[in-house]
Amino acid sequence: MTKLLGIPGSLRSGSLNLAMLAAAAGLVPENASLEIATLHGIPLYDGDLETDQGVPATVVRLQDSIAAADGLVIATPEYNNSIPGVLKNATDWLSRPPDQIKRVFHRKPVAIMGASTGGFGTVLAQTAWLPVFKALGARYWSGGRLMAARAGQSFDESGALVDLELGERIRQFMAGFVEFATGES
Ligand code: FNR
Repeated sequence: MTKLLGIPGSLRSGSLNLAMLAAAAGLVPENASLEIATLHGIPLYDGDLETDQGVPATVVRLQDSIAAADGLVIATPEYNNSIPGVLKNATDWLSRPPDQIKRVFHRKPVAIMGASTGGFGTVLAQTAWLPVFKALGARYWSGGRLMAARAGQSFDESGALVDLELGERIRQFMAGFVEFATGES
C-alpha cells in the first residue's frame, strides 16, 4: 500500500483546495491511500519562539506524518500570483531545525496540484513552489499537471466534486503520482 499525505494550503472550511484533496482521496488507485493533514494550529514562524520553546507540537506531528508517508501531495491556493503565506509559513516551520530537512523532505516524492477561482488555476503558484522543494531536496513529480480553474463551479456547497471532467483529471494525476512514488515510473 502506498501511503500518501495531502496538505491543503488553506485554513478555510470551505476551501476548494481541501475539497480537491478530499476528491483525490476517493480517486487514488486501490493500492494507495491519501490521508489529509491540516495546517490549523501552526503559529507564525518566530525564531524567538523556536529558541525558547522549540518546534511546536503541531509542526512535529506534521513532520512525523510527512516522514512516514511515501509521497506528499500539496494542494496550493494562489494568492497574488504566488504562494499562499499560510502554506509557506508551515513549510518553513517543517524545515526546522535544519537537521529535520533530511528526515522530512530529502528525496520525498512531491506532487503539486491547485484550485483557484481564477482562470489559470494556480499555474503561477505551482511554479513558485518549485524552488522551495528544490531547496528542501524533495523529488518533485513533473509527470502530470493538475490545475482547477474557476473551481468554485466544480464543487457543490458541501465540497463534493460535481465536475466529472475534473474528476477524471484528478484520477489520472493521482495514478501517475502513485506510480512515481512507488518507483514504477
Ligand atoms: C486570491 N485568489 C486568487 N486566485 C487566482 O487565481 N490568482 C490569484 O493571484 C489570486 N489571488 C488571491 C489573493 C488573495 C489574498 C485571496 C484571498 C484570493 C482567489 C483564490 O483563488 C480563491 O480565494 C480560492 O478559493 C482560494 O483557495 P481555497 O481557500 O478555496 O482553497
